[in-house]
Amino acid sequence: MRQAGRYQAAYRKIRETHTLPEIVRDPELTARVTRLPVETLGVDAAILFADITTPLYGMGVRLEIVEGRGPVIENPIQSPKDVEQLLPFDPKAHVPFVLAAIRLLKEELKVPLIGFAGAPFTLASYLVEGGPSKNFARVKRFMLTAPEAWHRLMEKLTGAMAAYLKAQTAAGADALMVFDSWIGRLTRRQYQTYVLPHQKRLFAELKETGRPTIHFGTGTMHLLELLKEAGGDAIGVDTSTPLAWARERLGPTPVQGNLDPAVLLADQSTIAAEIEAVLAENAGQPGHVFNLGHGMLPMTPEENAAFAVETVHRLTGR
Ligand code: CP3
Repeated sequence: MRQAGRYQAAYRKIRETHTLPEIVRDPELTARVTRLPVETLGVDAAILFADITTPLYGMGVRLEIVEGRGPVIENPIQSPKDVEQLLPFDPKAHVPFVLAAIRLLKEELKVPLIGFAGAPFTLASYLVEGGPSKNFARVKRFMLTAPEAWHRLMEKLTGAMAAYLKAQTAAGADALMVFDSWIGRLTRRQYQTYVLPHQKRLFAELKETGRPTIHFGTGTMHLLELLKEAGGDAIGVDTSTPLAWARERLGPTPVQGNLDPAVLLADQSTIAAEIEAVLAENAGQPGHVFNLGHGMLPMTPEENAAFAVETVHRLTGR
C-alpha cells in the first residue's frame, strides 16, 4: 500500500522536478513510478500510481496535495447548493492520462495491475471537511443535518467512481481496490443509513467488469460484516484488527492485510517475526493477500521493504 512513494530514493528524485499531480498527468512517468516497487521489491502486483483525489479535478474541485498532510480543498462542500455544483465525471475527458498510463503498463508489466479509487464516504469527507480531519465533525454534521443533500452527494460520487473504475478495467486494470480509508470513524448505524446503500451500488456496478475487487477501510473492527454486505471479493483489513478476528466475522471471504507499516522501521529479525505472526493469525486459510495494514511510511528503509517481500515469499513457499 502506497508501495511507490517517498521512502524510495528514485521516487524522491522524480519529485525534485515534478509535483504529484504532474507525475499523474504524465503517462510515461506514471508508468515508471508504478513499476518501481515491482522492480525493486519484487511485489506480486503493481498498483496504479495516482491519488484518490485524481478524478475530483474534473468534477470542478480545486485542490492541492500538501506534503505531510494530504489533500486540501480550496472550495469545500458546505451547502446543498455546493453539491449541485459538482460536475458529472467523464473518464475519457477528465483522466485520459490515467487510462493511457494503464495501457502502457499493460504492455510492460509481467505482474497484474491493480486499479483503484477512493470510496464515496472517504472522498466526501475530504470534500466537506476541506482537508484531512481529526474528528470528522463537519462531514458528520452534514450527513446528520442535511441528509437529502448528503445522499445526493454520495450518489454523485458513487456514479463517478463506478465510471472511473470501469474505465480503468476497460483500459486493462486486472483488479480493483476501493479505499474507504476513514470509514472506521462512523458508527454502525451511521454506516447503515448514510453509506451502505451507496457502497452496495458501487460494488454491484463493479460486478459488470468481471474483475476481482478489494474493499479496504481502516479502524473497521465494528464494521466488518457491513463492509462484507456492501461488497468486494476480498476485504482489506488494517493493522488495528487482528486477522483472526476478521476471519471469524467474514467467514470464507478472502482478506487482505495487515502488517503494521511501522514494523518495517525495525531490524530484520523483528520484521520476520511480525510477518510470521500475521501469517499465523490467518492460520493457513486460503484467500489471504499479504499486505501492509495501511500505507508505507516515508521513513521506511527500502531494504527493509524488499526484505519483507522476500520473507513473505519464503514463508509461504512462493
Ligand atoms: O499505493 C500506491 O502505491 C498507489 C498510489 C496511491 C497514492 N495515494 C499516491 C500518493 C494510492 C493508492 C493513494 C490513495 C490515497 N490517497 C488514499 C487511500 C489510501 C490510504 O492511505 O488510506 C488516501 C486517503 C489518499 C489521500 C492522500 N494523498 C494522503 C493522505 C496523502 C499523504 C500526504 C503526505 O504527504 O503524507 C496523499 C499524497 C500521496 N498520494 C502520496 C503518494 C505516494 C505522498 C507522496 C508525495 O507527496 O509525493
